[in-house]
Amino acid sequence: MTFPIRVRVPASSANLGSGFDTLGMGLTFYNVYEVLELLPSGTYQVEVVGEGSRELEDPAANLVIRSYEAAFEAWEREAPGLVFRALNAVPLCRGLGSSAGAVVGGVLLANALRERPLSKEELLPLMVRLEGHPDNVVPCCVGGMVVSCWDGERLRYLRLTSMPPDVSVVVAVPEFRVSTKAAREVLPEVVSLKDAVFNVSRAALFTAAWATGSWEHLLWAMEDKLHQQFRAKLFPGGEEILSEIRKSPECMGVAISGSGPSMMAFVKGNPQGVAGRMCRIFSGNGVRSRFFVLDVDEAGAKLSGGGGRVATGA
Ligand code: HSE
Repeated sequence: MTFPIRVRVPASSANLGSGFDTLGMGLTFYNVYEVLELLPSGTYQVEVVGEGSRELEDPAANLVIRSYEAAFEAWEREAPGLVFRALNAVPLCRGLGSSAGAVVGGVLLANALRERPLSKEELLPLMVRLEGHPDNVVPCCVGGMVVSCWDGERLRYLRLTSMPPDVSVVVAVPEFRVSTKAAREVLPEVVSLKDAVFNVSRAALFTAAWATGSWEHLLWAMEDKLHQQFRAKLFPGGEEILSEIRKSPECMGVAISGSGPSMMAFVKGNPQGVAGRMCRIFSGNGVRSRFFVLDVDEAGAKLSGGGGRVATGA
């Protein structure tokens, strides 16, 4: 077995406006999780550098460790304890898929200890079941822009083609956190047929536009009536960013990233300028924020080291 066993997981941005719980993409922004040594079962030494340091050093509060244990539980094997280190760049509870990254990372580390490791394809249903949101988990695991369908048991997904190199993904990240749970609680249980049709048509347009390179349709295709209007009220500046940034000539589409409060935009030319405008809108609403200019991650989660020692049957 080769140590450290290391997995690099990308951040992700889900929904893309209209594709609620369906569309998502990996981002070139990463956390790295490392297993430095194995320990007796139930024993953990956890070090977290960067986002979430201290709060995530308790193994019971660390979603990577919990997912690692859950994977072994699913395989009905005892999980070895770990000397574990996380290098966390992705801010927590900001709609950038940090939970999905933790689950994907934890399951992949567990898989690296199997005598017969499973493929990503085989691991994905377990990952989605543990995390709950295929639109973050699948792109984090396999990379790219992904359309996912999950019925609670079965997963189907398709990766779309790459984004053009002259387009950037701009993400403005406010200082405060909003949990996905809180951001789901503000959503209505029932929506009108008119609003459902509004979103179905746009999400379909998004996929067709992305698949055929018809980028001029994205701005329209990212419009939404199912979640953003309710969630934007939780983030001062969110509504204004949605309405103002789309007027920028460089903006190809703008949305709440996942369940927020980060905001994302596809930008062609001058990404720093658009990002600066997003952050100024946040600060005009009394919210401090920072921005990142990113690309779509096409590689997904990447593992090195390991080599398997836990017999897990076929
Ligand atoms: N589709 C999910 C939501 C993503 O918007 O609640 C959670 O990150």
